[in-house]
Amino acid sequence: MSAPLQNDLLLRALLRQPTPRTPVWMMRQAGRYLPEYRATRAKAGSFLQLCMNPELACEVTLQPLDRYRLDAAILFSDILTVPHAMNVGLSFETGEGPKIARPVRTSADIDRLPIPDPEGELRYVMDAVRTIRRELKGRVPLIGFAGSPWTVGTYMVEGGGSRNFEHIKGMLYGAPQELHRLLDIITRATIAYLNGQIAAGAQAVMVFDTWGGALTPRDYREFSLRYMQRIVDGVTREADGRRVPVILYTKGGGDWLDHMAATGCDALGVDWMTDLADARRKVQDKVALQGNLDPSVLYAPPARIREQVGKVLASYGQGPGHVFNLGHGIHPEVKPEHALAMIEAVHELSPQYHEERDRGRG
Ligand code: CP3
Repeated sequence: MSAPLQNDLLLRALLRQPTPRTPVWMMRQAGRYLPEYRATRAKAGSFLQLCMNPELACEVTLQPLDRYRLDAAILFSDILTVPHAMNVGLSFETGEGPKIARPVRTSADIDRLPIPDPEGELRYVMDAVRTIRRELKGRVPLIGFAGSPWTVGTYMVEGGGSRNFEHIKGMLYGAPQELHRLLDIITRATIAYLNGQIAAGAQAVMVFDTWGGALTPRDYREFSLRYMQRIVDGVTREADGRRVPVILYTKGGGDWLDHMAATGCDALGVDWMTDLADARRKVQDKVALQGNLDPSVLYAPPARIREQVGKVLASYGQGPGHVFNLGHGIHPEVKPEHALAMIEAVHELSPQYHEERDRGRG
């Protein structure tokens, strides 16, 4: 049915299998730093319309792959498609980020939330996955994704981005059972959503817990990690005869990598506040690690970018199980040539960290 995979470096590295070099992709690789992305978004009308148009979502997903030697595609979509399908009234105001018209604050608000059918209200995402897989023609694997229940919950309860998480933390400390009820609904929706993406052709999945780092260590385990654990347990782990790796990423979660690794996920995304050598010691080669160049390094000239890439590769050190990435999404002001410098540096500098005998197996 689908074309055989020509470059499976990402899937092998996520399972800590040997590769001739370190694979590389970038969080938010399809985005505003690319002029061709801005042109397609203008054609779509808005960011949300771009997400909801499978042909155009496919077009922007492939744009960075046409420019750079990347080892993965990531579905172009957003973590807020799930609340959007739960009828909370999502919109994106330019320059202001997401807005939710009907925030979820009371028990009655929670009662009203449906669990969306991936092939129903979220069919446009599944169609995007199918279209991208068809157009990729096996060049590289396709990563699907969702937000963590806690992170998606912050937007649903706050009504948008937030500095202090006033409403959701009020709920966490004031009515924890209500928050658990909300997180349970988001978790069930997310498992169905990720399994829909895998059935449609996603070959690895990543869970973005952008705001888990705002929690105390104990609350992190109770309100974020516990639900990511349910996702790890609930997602399809094999498709088309191959393991579907699961990557968990908590921004600010460096101290908790051991707990995250214990969920049984395959890999952890690591932000730039954590040293990869320390991270590797903490997880004791139980999982692969993905990261962790400071996205702001890409503001510097190409020669400095290359040096910093070298430092990240050296901090992980010898052996399999590293996927090179930024520690968070690429910033919109970055020059496309600077992303190129990073990617080329990974191609050139990483083979020395892999065994001689694996280098022939491109
Ligand atoms: O990585 C990729 O290339 C895939 C696409 C992707 C987007 N959002 C596209 C996007 C992914 C993986 C996401 C995840 C996402 N969305 C997260 C978690 C990851 C992270 O960055 O921490 C979060 C918290 C969101 C919610 C969200 N979406 C916010 C807060 C914003 C506004 C901030 C901003 O950068 O403008 C978005 C909008 C968004 N999602 C854009 C893109 C390309 C920018 C929209 C535009 O074109 O103007």
